[in-house]
Amino acid sequence: MSKIKVAIVGVGNCASSLVQGIEFYTKNTNAEGLMYREVGEYKVSDIEIVLAVDVDKNKIGKDLSEAVFTKPNCTKVFSEVSSKGIIVKKGHVLDGVSESMKNFFQVDDGQESIDIVKELKDSGADICICYLPVGSAEAARFYAQACLDSGVAFINAIPEFICSDNDWIKKFIEKGIPCVGDDIKSQVGATILHRAITCLIEDRGHKIDSTYQLNIGGNTDFLNMKDEDRIISKRISKTQAVTSILNNKNFEVKIGPSDHIPHLKDNKVCYINIKGRQFGEVPFELDLKLSVEDSPNSAGVMTEIIRSLKIAKDRGLSGNINEISSYTFKSPAIQIRDSEAKIVFERFIN
Ligand SMILES: NC(=O)c1ccc[n+]([C@@H]2O[C@H](COP(=O)([O-])OP(=O)(O)OC[C@H]3O[C@@H](n4cnc5c(N)ncnc54)[C@H](O)[C@@H]3O)[C@@H](O)[C@H]2O)c1
Repeated sequence: MSKIKVAIVGVGNCASSLVQGIEFYTKNTNAEGLMYREVGEYKVSDIEIVLAVDVDKNKIGKDLSEAVFTKPNCTKVFSEVSSKGIIVKKGHVLDGVSESMKNFFQVDDGQESIDIVKELKDSGADICICYLPVGSAEAARFYAQACLDSGVAFINAIPEFICSDNDWIKKFIEKGIPCVGDDIKSQVGATILHRAITCLIEDRGHKIDSTYQLNIGGNTDFLNMKDEDRIISKRISKTQAVTSILNNKNFEVKIGPSDHIPHLKDNKVCYINIKGRQFGEVPFELDLKLSVEDSPNSAGVMTEIIRSLKIAKDRGLSGNINEISSYTFKSPAIQIRDSEAKIVFERFIN
């Protein structure tokens, strides 16, 4: 089986877990934790990182195997990473780094940014992942355009509405390139849990009157999201991920990142509360706490996204691939329930 060549934009915690995961499942072929050992004929070990781009001075110039463990990255180390000779290159900063984040790491301003289109072409990348911080509206579109200009398939892991936007979908169709997004939905994270429980309550005939989902964590993703101006799209993405699949949307709702607790590091804690009425309109209340390592939770799904997007590329498909996006992202172009999305996804990969 040929390798799936992947470029990464943003060598943060999610990239670290993905890179570790490729090494881990290559060495431990029977290890647990994957949704699919094979997607079509592709295994996790078929994924190869061929280009890595960041703007952090401490990551640029380092071998990827070292950069993924460089602070402020703080996710759990579950695998060693051997050097493959990929040196992190300097990307275009644009709006990727907020003023307040500049106090926590140093943006490299000593050297020229790479010609991203040329680098994507020269690397032979099949696919490029956008792993930028939340609020990178301009930078995410800049890298999406670079994929269009270099013929590379695009994965948008972040809450910027690109692969769910008709104008962008049209651009990818015109160029004959597939894309998937937006805002990756973790394997067993706050969103999928909240969706599952609210659907269950609705299906069993109870009425939801209000719900909230509070999220706290100690990684740079949560630190960046303390800036309310940067998280407008994140709140929309997380909220519509829950409300869009319910028939009755008439209830109070508040969902989103809530605080940065440094000592939690990459441990994300989520609290979900639902109040409503049961038989006889008698009130009920549900409280749920989930505590998970944030980045491996999304990296697992990313291995499925990469492999299924490569299948789409092999088949010559273009534009947003609904069969992948609806199953694996919080804000796809078409929202369907997860049980149905799983069937559609499996029909596609098989
Ligand atoms: N962890 C999850 O489960 C999950 C789920 C959904 C979405 N996401 C999203 O994925 C994205 C990545 O998350 P993370 O935890 O890895 O974040 P992170 O803060 O650890 O990493 C972001 C990286 O991007 C780099 N960067 C900033 N501006 C850049 C630019 N212009 N060009 C290139 N690199 C740049 C930063 O230096 C940093 O290394 C975030 O937007 C996050 O919200 C994560």
